[in-house]
Amino acid sequence: MRTCTTNTSIQSALLKARQSRQTIAFVPTMGNLHDGHLDLVRKAHTLCDIVVVSIFVNPLQFGANEDLDTYPRTMAADKEKLFQEGVHFLYTPDVVEIYPEGLATQTQVQVPELSETLCGSNRPGHFNGVTTVVAKLFNIVRPDIAIFGEKDFQQLSIICKMVQDLCMPIKIVGAATARDEDGLAKSSRNSFLTPDQRHIAPIMHQTLMTCREAIACGFDNFLQLESHARMKLLQAGFEPDYFAIRDAQTLQSVTEETEEVAILAAARLGSTRLIDNVRLSLDPASDWGILAAR
Ligand code: PAF
Repeated sequence: MRTCTTNTSIQSALLKARQSRQTIAFVPTMGNLHDGHLDLVRKAHTLCDIVVVSIFVNPLQFGANEDLDTYPRTMAADKEKLFQEGVHFLYTPDVVEIYPEGLATQTQVQVPELSETLCGSNRPGHFNGVTTVVAKLFNIVRPDIAIFGEKDFQQLSIICKMVQDLCMPIKIVGAATARDEDGLAKSSRNSFLTPDQRHIAPIMHQTLMTCREAIACGFDNFLQLESHARMKLLQAGFEPDYFAIRDAQTLQSVTEETEEVAILAAARLGSTRLIDNVRLSLDPASDWGILAAR
């Protein structure tokens, strides 16, 4: 595995692969790698000849009162894991390399509407930071395929829209959420949970699944399902930001045209913010009737 820290070094390292017509899969990360990230890397190997991973804790996507300073940074352990997974190139730029003129004057990429709902309303500016850095990383690495986890379902939707709207010649691939045995979605932020909070945390996934089951059984009062789920989370000790049943394509309310429903939740346990989602395909032949759960 070759590690590059500058834009020019990763670009010249990849030139040879590109000249010999090898395909490039890219997995952008913020490090503190867990099995969820390694699943993305494994998927990348099945899709392309060359696998590139980036580790960059992007200050532009953190709000002023968020956990940028305490975000877990575990570079040595991450490098070892990526080496074991057969990654070809690791790109680890510093902040000056990505934002040489600082953050204030950085041109930003914004995906309207999709970026403003759900996590976007709780974390203003967050998704502009994500799309800006991902667009820059895409321009630097110029991959054929980029892989993102479905745990961050809104992020994945926003990146798909950005790529489509800006005609970026990159295929975006989503990878299923990796979970601990008790259902908790794997996340770098899980390491912040106290033992008591870790015990409570899987209730988020259980609540999502209960809601999915209710919809699959034909229960169609979504407002009632959402408020019941929020109450469950509150009772368990979470402070919910949202629990929402949405159209998986638009992330707006479910309509007659909805083909797939996404049920998304974000909530704090102490100072740790957890997010998760599950989805459900609607059988067009039925009236919210029998649904194919995913
Ligand atoms: O999902 C993440 O880890 C980050 O939001 C990403 C996509 C690497 C951009 O910084």
